[in-house]
Amino acid sequence: MKLPGLIDVHVHLREPGATHKEDFLSGTKAALAGGVTTVLAMPNTQPPLADGSSLHKAVSAGQEKALCDYGLYLGGSMENPDLLPEIADQSVGLKLYLDATYGPLLLEDTIHWRKLFESWPRSRPIVAHAEGKTLAALLYIAFMYDRHIHICHVSTREEICLIKSAKEKGLPVTCEVTPHHLFLSKEDIPALGKRGKSEVRPRLASRDDQRALWDHLEVIDCFATDHAPHTLAEKEGEDPPPGFPGLETALPLFLNAVHEGRLSMEDVITRMYTNPRAVFGLPEQQETWIEVDLKRGYEIRAADQYSKCGWTPFEGWTGLGCVERVVLRGEEVFRNGEILTTAGGGRNIAPSLTYQA
Ligand code: NCD
Ligand code: ZN
Ligand code: ZN
Ligand code: ZN
Repeated sequence: MKLPGLIDVHVHLREPGATHKEDFLSGTKAALAGGVTTVLAMPNTQPPLADGSSLHKAVSAGQEKALCDYGLYLGGSMENPDLLPEIADQSVGLKLYLDATYGPLLLEDTIHWRKLFESWPRSRPIVAHAEGKTLAALLYIAFMYDRHIHICHVSTREEICLIKSAKEKGLPVTCEVTPHHLFLSKEDIPALGKRGKSEVRPRLASRDDQRALWDHLEVIDCFATDHAPHTLAEKEGEDPPPGFPGLETALPLFLNAVHEGRLSMEDVITRMYTNPRAVFGLPEQQETWIEVDLKRGYEIRAADQYSKCGWTPFEGWTGLGCVERVVLRGEEVFRNGEILTTAGGGRNIAPSLTYQA
């Protein structure tokens, strides 16, 4: 079956600074293997993408190595509101970290949030890591500025219901949910052993939270992986960082859910292609598609993956709909497990965004 090239609006490529975890080459190989032809990369790198020079490092790395199309988020910091307007157009959006997670970009109070809302141009979206009560505060600030806000990795009943109410009030809010919050709950942590210790942010939630996400599918605009690779050694070592990889497992898990009747094919395409494009104003990729074999089930194994992280929380799960072929702008770039393209075929989509808040 032929599907559009998928879009993942929440991916960590770890470049610059932590290329032992992932880089533009390994991360975009993982994307293609997962049927994803556009990734939007997060700014919590080392250094974080929070000014022109750090952004330039990531742009150069992408230019040199990316195999699929990509866009870069800039990170809002307590120091950078004034320098953002000049470089905003080289990014696909502004990321606000409003709760503690991996990396240094934490905005401590609403005074800093507001400065960023005031400086960031309306030609690019604002996305946020905002959990629980923080989300309620953010919705209020976005309302004050009459701004669209996209909420990253929604994971609880409280959050999905807050977003539902905001949408019912007519606020321009959109959101994404990850495969791990849909398919795992905190009951699954013991089975992850040592690598479950630092798990992920937002943390895996209760069964009831998980059920609430499935019960509010109509509120979920996008499925995004939050592909957050950390090596197995790091996950099992001292002071492990939070984060799960996801690029190579998302589509097989969702197609499995289609097979089980929990989702329709339309549900998946809407949330991994149509809505991501509409929400972020992403350009169309000409002559681009993926081909999946819906009859082919297989065991998910980290050993078969392109990500450098070397593990998956879904080890041993059954995936369905093997990605057989990926065609990007008329060129076959992936076939039956093999990457067929050399570095550099991916485009930075920042200049072609058509977003307007
Ligand atoms: C992410 C990471 O590792 O960069 N970790 C995570 O647990 N999701 C950061 C984030 O997305 O919050
Ligand atoms: Zn986050
Ligand atoms: Zn509800
Ligand atoms: Zn993330």
